[in-house]
This record gives sequence, C-alpha cells and structure tokens, in this order.
Amino acid sequence: MKIKRKDAFYGEFLIPGDKSITHRAIMFNAAAEGSAVVKNALLGEDCLSTIGCMRALGAAVRIEGGTVYVTGTSAFRDAECDCGNSGTTMRLLMGLVAGRGVNVKFTGDASLSKRPMERVARPLRLLGAKVETTDGTAPVYVRGSALKGCRVDTQVASAQVKSAVLLAALGAEGTTTVCEPLRSRDHTERMLAAMGAKIRTEGTSVTVEKSALHCVDVDVPADISSAAYFMALGALRGETVCKNVGINPTRTGILQVFDRMNVQYSLENERTVCGEPVADIRVKKSALRAVKLDRDIMPSLIDELPVIAVLCSLADGESVIRGAEELRVKESDRIETTAAMLRAFGGDCETLADGFVIRGKKSLRGGSADACGDHRIAMSAAVALTASEQGGEIAGADCVNISFPQFFAMLKEPEAQR
Ligand code: S3P
Repeated sequence: MKIKRKDAFYGEFLIPGDKSITHRAIMFNAAAEGSAVVKNALLGEDCLSTIGCMRALGAAVRIEGGTVYVTGTSAFRDAECDCGNSGTTMRLLMGLVAGRGVNVKFTGDASLSKRPMERVARPLRLLGAKVETTDGTAPVYVRGSALKGCRVDTQVASAQVKSAVLLAALGAEGTTTVCEPLRSRDHTERMLAAMGAKIRTEGTSVTVEKSALHCVDVDVPADISSAAYFMALGALRGETVCKNVGINPTRTGILQVFDRMNVQYSLENERTVCGEPVADIRVKKSALRAVKLDRDIMPSLIDELPVIAVLCSLADGESVIRGAEELRVKESDRIETTAAMLRAFGGDCETLADGFVIRGKKSLRGGSADACGDHRIAMSAAVALTASEQGGEIAGADCVNISFPQFFAMLKEPEAQR
C-alpha cells in the first residue's frame, strides 16, 4: 500500500464499531435467552471469527448490512472453533464454554497460535474447568465439567482473562470474585449487568454469582482504538472529528496522553448509549510535547501505543514508555514491530524489555515498512507516512481488515467522509 504525504488533513469520520463491544454483544447474546439486534457492529475479520464460532456452537447469527441478528441458545453443542487472528474470541470463549458442559477445540492462525493461553486456562482450572493447552498455546481443548465459584487473582491486568473467568462463573455454583492488579476495560461487566447477571464491581475486583442471561439489543459505539489513527492525524496535520466514539473511562488513556502531550482536543455531544459513554472527539493540530508513561495507565491505552509512539516520534523531547511488556504478546511483538517501523521512517526509537525510549524529531522522512501481519502496526505506519516528508509504502497492509476494513479508503479521501 502506497501512502502519500499530506500537509493538511481535515475531515469528519464515522469510525466503525468497537471491536471489544461487538465481540461481546455477539457472544453473550448467543449464550442468552431470546434474540437481539446488534447495530453498528464491527464486521472486521476478528468479529467474523466470533460469529463463525457462535454458529459452530449452535447459535443463529445473521448479518444484514452493519446489523447482526443473534438468536441465543441455552445449550451449546460440541464444536471446533476457528478463532482466526482473534485473541479476544479464543480467550473469552474458553471461559464461556467452560461453564456450559461442552467439549470444544479452539484453533487460530499462526500469530494467535503463538500467544499465551495458560493465563486463561490456569484461572479457569481453579473453578474446576478441564482445559488443556498445547505447550501453553493453541490448540486449546475445553472439556465439559461442573464448576464451582472461587476467588481468582489474575497475574496480568487483562480484560480478556477477567472476562473469561466471569463468563465461566455464570455457570459455576456459588460466587466467583476476580481481582486484577490494575483495572482493565469493563465492557463485559456492563453488558452482563444489562443482561441480568448478578455482578458487582468494587475497585479492581468483580464478583459474579451463577446467573442466566437474557438477550439485549446493543448499539455499538465507534471504537476509540480505531478513531485513534484519525485523532492522531488531526493532532499532526489539521483537524479531525470522530463521531459517536466510545469514551468508557477504562479505554480513554489516550485522552490523558493528549492532555500531557499538549494535544488540543474537545469532547462534544457527550451521552450514554446502551450503558456506554459516547462522544464526538475533535482534535486540532498541536505542538506536541514528549511524555513519560508508566504501568498504571497501560490497560487503558494498550492498543493505542503504536500510534502514540508515532506521536512521540514527532514531539519535542524524549518520551519514555515503561510497563508495557504486554505489547510483546499482541498480534505481533509490538515493542519490536513499532520500533522497526519508526526506524524505517527515520525515527529514533530505542526498545526496552517493557517499552520504548523515543527521541522526537521535527519530521519523519518516510520510506518502506512491513506491517508484520499486525493491523495496528499497518495503521500506525499509515499515520506516520501521511505526516512524513516523502510518504512511502507498507507491505502486508491488508491486515487492517482485522479491525478496520475501511481504513485506507477513509485515509485517502478524508473530505469524502463529511
Ligand atoms: C481486549 C482486551 C485487550 C486488548 C484487545 C481487546 C478485549 O487485551 O488488547 O485488543 O476485548 O477484552 P488484554 O485484555 O489481554 O490486555
């Protein structure tokens, strides 16, 4: 994919639906009583993987335009679930099926088959689940067994791990409490509460009782992780507005980073849709300042770090990002792939075991980089090249289909989005 430099970038964007919320709306409704309509669903490859798995497990899922119609099933059937590239699909479903007495084999693509699954298997076993991984990774086998609630302390602040335990706990006798080292995104808790689950949150602990779910319609807000690329382009090159963006406080670490980097932005039309806070985000061209980020903020911006690193490359001063070792086990090793991309464009980025040191420059030259099969690297590279001196090329850019199939069309013609 060739990317031209642009000196000015202005536009109003209807960013596609939130990936985390779309996965959950489809999975949870598929396991609930009744039927539901999921509007503005993200239909990228990851969520299509979830739809394929829910069908394999016995739920009826129909796609019409951007709307997904789900009819739940009270009894899943034994199945093989191909989760493609999607960690959320595999990890959440491991928990969901564990509480439902079925035998399921989970597989994934080459990238997903390298990612750690014991972090989910271990806490599920504490509840009595029979889970087998293959040397810690996929294929993963979950076999039907009776579960009993207990207290689970997770080692990493991961919404995927937390959600897997909460979903298994819905089918476990008694009470389950999940305690995290830091609070991770809470879309699962919000949606399960709306579906009738007995669930409560206290600080970084979530407690759930055995509960049946009833279907709820969901209007999915735009994904702040996808909006982040266009927000960054507003800050670098002009002015952008991303409409209907989910601003759940467990997801808005990037806005705190904007405050600290001197990015000029405003939230407009703030409102609540289906239990999730939403706003239009306007971002204006700004003189960027370097920033220091540490572990505490990571769960609220983990997927935005590659594009935040692009902003740091064009900020005044040295930025230091620490406590981000989770990046090493995402769709690629994002510490290495982000640094390689920035260096390929003339940036100055040193890697640490748990993050980066990035010395900002007045401009990036541009050039060629490889997406390394990682959608967020492809889109961050596109932002860097749009704001570079010469533009350049991204190899393997079609992986944006994982989370944002319309990305390059929107990038090429921002004016057409009005
Ligand atoms: C997600 C949680 C995050 C995030 C991923 C989606 C979710 O992963 O990186 O893209 O939907 O729960 P972890 O919870 O493992 O950090």
